[in-house]
Amino acid sequence: MKVVTTLDDLRQARATLLGPVGLTPTMGYLHEGHVSLARRARAECASVAASIFVNPAQFGPSEDLASYPRDLPRDLELLAAAGVDLVWTPAPEIVYPAGFQTWISVEQVAAPLEGAHRAGHFRGVATVVAKLFNAFQPQRAYFGQKDAQQAAVIRQMARDLDFPVEIVICPTVREPDGLAMSSRNAYLDAAQRAAAPVLFHALSAAAAAYAAGVRDAENLRQLMAGIIDAEPLARRQYVSCADPVTLQELDGPIGRALLSMAVYLGKTRLIDNLVLGEA
Ligand code: PAF
Repeated sequence: MKVVTTLDDLRQARATLLGPVGLTPTMGYLHEGHVSLARRARAECASVAASIFVNPAQFGPSEDLASYPRDLPRDLELLAAAGVDLVWTPAPEIVYPAGFQTWISVEQVAAPLEGAHRAGHFRGVATVVAKLFNAFQPQRAYFGQKDAQQAAVIRQMARDLDFPVEIVICPTVREPDGLAMSSRNAYLDAAQRAAAPVLFHALSAAAAAYAAGVRDAENLRQLMAGIIDAEPLARRQYVSCADPVTLQELDGPIGRALLSMAVYLGKTRLIDNLVLGEA
């Protein structure tokens, strides 16, 4: 596995890779969810590339950029074990050199849900992912369903800007108690960690109600909100039952829907989602 930091070295190393190239963009502090993306890329592509870059542009001023967990040696071991061929670990000034001033703003799809609570977040994500697509020229790029809106924003961006890359969305990987894997789970203390599966419990209860015939979007939102609010350590930021493509909130009877939520446990903000009505 080759590890490079400059853009020139990345381009040289990329030129030697056989296609199709599968890219797994990450912010490091890897868990089984990331590794599952790299493994899927390994199974589907001739070459596998990954990036490790804690992207300052997607953190708000009051978010956790400075304290975001990092462990590069361990990350590299995990990527090597997953069969990755090439890793780019650029410094911030390589991705955003002095004078940088070009940003990508996806509009409607980025506006609700996470976008409504994290100003500028998806502008930072779309811009860095576009730069990663330019740098790596992958034929496929692998992202997790855990960040459902991010996946929708990246799909839209790739379509609108004609990136010749297939966006592959992989299932959320969960701990045995249902908690979705996330680098931010490392912030939880023991009591918060014990309470954290409440997100998955609320989503699962709504999915069970849907399976039993409940189709009213507001009923499903209220069911999820009630379960979150009954957990004393959890503070609900939003619960949503939205169209899985447009991400607009649904009203009345639903067919397919994206259930999603953001919940604070102490200072740690967790998100999770499930899609209802999938074939
Ligand atoms: O999902 C992430 O880890 C990040 O948002 C991504 C896609 C690597 C862009 O920084």
